[in-house]
Amino acid sequence: MTDVVTLTLGPALDCTTATDRVRPTRKLRCDAPRYDAGGGGINVARLLHALGTDAVALFPAGGWTGKAFEDLVRSSGTRFRVVPTSSATRQSFCVNDRGTGLQYRFVLPGAALQAAEQQACLDALTAEAVGARFVVLSGSLPPGVPPTIIADVADRTRAAGARLIVDTSGEALRSALETDAYLVKPDLEELEDLVGQALATDADQEQAARQLLASSGIAILLVSLAERGALIVTREETVRLPAFAVTPAGGSGTGDSMVAGLTHGLIDGLDIRQAVRLGMAAGAAALMTPGTALAEPALIHRLYAGRERAGRPRAAVA
Ligand SMILES: Nc1ncnc2c1ncn2[C@@H]1O[C@H](COP(=O)(O)OP(=O)(O)OP(=O)(O)O)[C@@H](O)[C@H]1O
Ligand SMILES: [Mg+2]
Repeated sequence: MTDVVTLTLGPALDCTTATDRVRPTRKLRCDAPRYDAGGGGINVARLLHALGTDAVALFPAGGWTGKAFEDLVRSSGTRFRVVPTSSATRQSFCVNDRGTGLQYRFVLPGAALQAAEQQACLDALTAEAVGARFVVLSGSLPPGVPPTIIADVADRTRAAGARLIVDTSGEALRSALETDAYLVKPDLEELEDLVGQALATDADQEQAARQLLASSGIAILLVSLAERGALIVTREETVRLPAFAVTPAGGSGTGDSMVAGLTHGLIDGLDIRQAVRLGMAAGAAALMTPGTALAEPALIHRLYAGRERAGRPRAAVA
């Protein structure tokens, strides 16, 4: 049975390489490229799968990039369902400059997701979400998709008897607050965008989050604060949790890892505070895991249990 359906409306085939020095005009000899299936919901489903939660990743894909994308998801062992699209899946290109240690990230535009393709995504969601506990909508919306699709996703999730978790930004995030989603997770920058001002102090952040929750239809607003931990705001309480003290080792994907850990915890029967702690452990573990490799579940559980010595980075696992 599927416990979690993740929906990634804007997947991207990520190509990463490295060169000695990024310079104009000259040909830059690069290392062999590495391809990854990118997009919030894909990462969430992969980590859920690694943690032992039955998840299915739902995404639109098309063209030769879509075929490569699908092969990458398949080889990760994650269950998935593809909604075929007429245009090719978007690509992004990342070059690591060995000389400066800087990273250059080029994001190519995605083709519009046609109205019929959007409808097919919603219908596939309805089919996959039967009996599921959670639907996780993660990542940005591709061109052509109105933010109101979040309300459609919420309707489909409710009809399936599941609860909705949303991790997105911009207008899509604003739309998510108008739904009856169970949990919405902005980070601090996204929260500041929502309220249109910088939130420098703890009190500013808490007040802004409480006001947003009060005027929204959602149950929980979870604000992730990177090395400052997280803020959980429900109708009843505001809880601030400190981050795990870790030494980053070049890892990324803290937000997606947090959402996966949190969802896994909720399915495992943890209360919201403990589930967020597990999500925070997953976020911290992602930072301790170099490159694009997934954090090891054992590391996440050690952090959560307080058994991982603070500040000890892990070696690369892939
Ligand atoms: N430097 C850090 N030290 C310890 N924990 C961290 C650190 N950075 C992130 N985390 C953990 O991961 C969680 C999510 O991180 P963050 O707030 O950076 O998410 P995000 O901005 O959505 O990430 P992303 O850039 O991947 O979208 C945090 O709430 C925190 O618990
Ligand atoms: Mg994020």
